[in-house]
Amino acid sequence: MTFTHRHLLGIEHLRPEEIVTLLDLAEDYVALNRAPDKHKDALAGLTQINMFFENSTRTQASFELAGKRLGADVMNMAMQASSISKGETLIDTAMTLNAMHPDLLVVRHPHSGAVDLLAQKVNCAVLNAGDGRHEHPTQALLDALTIRRAKGRLHRLSIAICGDIAHSRVARSNIILLGKMENRIRLIGPPTLMPSGISEFGVEVYDDMADGLKDVDVVMMLRLQKERMDGGFIPSEREYYHRFGLDDDKLSHAKSDAIVMHPGPMNRGVEIDGTLADDINRSVIQEQVEMGVAVRMAAMDLLARNLAALRGVA
Ligand code: NCD
Repeated sequence: MTFTHRHLLGIEHLRPEEIVTLLDLAEDYVALNRAPDKHKDALAGLTQINMFFENSTRTQASFELAGKRLGADVMNMAMQASSISKGETLIDTAMTLNAMHPDLLVVRHPHSGAVDLLAQKVNCAVLNAGDGRHEHPTQALLDALTIRRAKGRLHRLSIAICGDIAHSRVARSNIILLGKMENRIRLIGPPTLMPSGISEFGVEVYDDMADGLKDVDVVMMLRLQKERMDGGFIPSEREYYHRFGLDDDKLSHAKSDAIVMHPGPMNRGVEIDGTLADDINRSVIQEQVEMGVAVRMAAMDLLARNLAALRGVA
């Protein structure tokens, strides 16, 4: 098998052929999810625990549905109320959970690196559902599947990622994945929202939407992540929308068949025009949500197969 990992912590660790293996399996799950009977027993008998230390709508719902459709016993833990200091919380929680013999642990945490740390303490498969500004691997994989289905390929495309790059784990995982698959990546946003040293990632950087969007195949918008800002990054939301908000006029610089993406949650009228977001001829935002369930089914299926092999049960 071409996917040999114990955990899914980041795109950074995946080889291009492993990405393709996962996306191909996800295609089977897209078909299953559209069928009247959406069940398969790939995770039957296994226990999946979702630990979200940060808010989530689609990622948590999608991991929960993915596990249930594959027959796992799924438990959602309400982590947000916890106020104990980070290091202790993680290690204590990891040890406590480990004693309950989970097989799959899905973790979202506000601190970069927290999920990797937790993975070192447990003997089950850990999936990173977003850690700080670091990585959000299943988001990049669902974006990749959405692009591959819309464009018929996942290489040699021109892809613009726009907005708050500096605070975005979605941007980071996408830059790594799309770069590994040999696409041309442009980052567009105000200099205050560009991470320093970003040019090392082999991307082109623009601070003007008309220039940056010229002839691109894919336009990926990002939310302004105000919860990660300590003020002063943009003059005002109105000004930001004027310069960087995606509307029909700015989109007209892209290819005529360019698709519009957004990981959600969207701030309509801040980073994207509401009507454009709902335009089924341009926007694939709902497809992204659909692909999210299939990609998470594929990721957990592959990790569970490796887990069985590691534990000698295969
Ligand atoms: C993203 C996240 O949490 O990183 N959302 C998601 O998972 N769909 C992006 C965001 O919060 O803006």
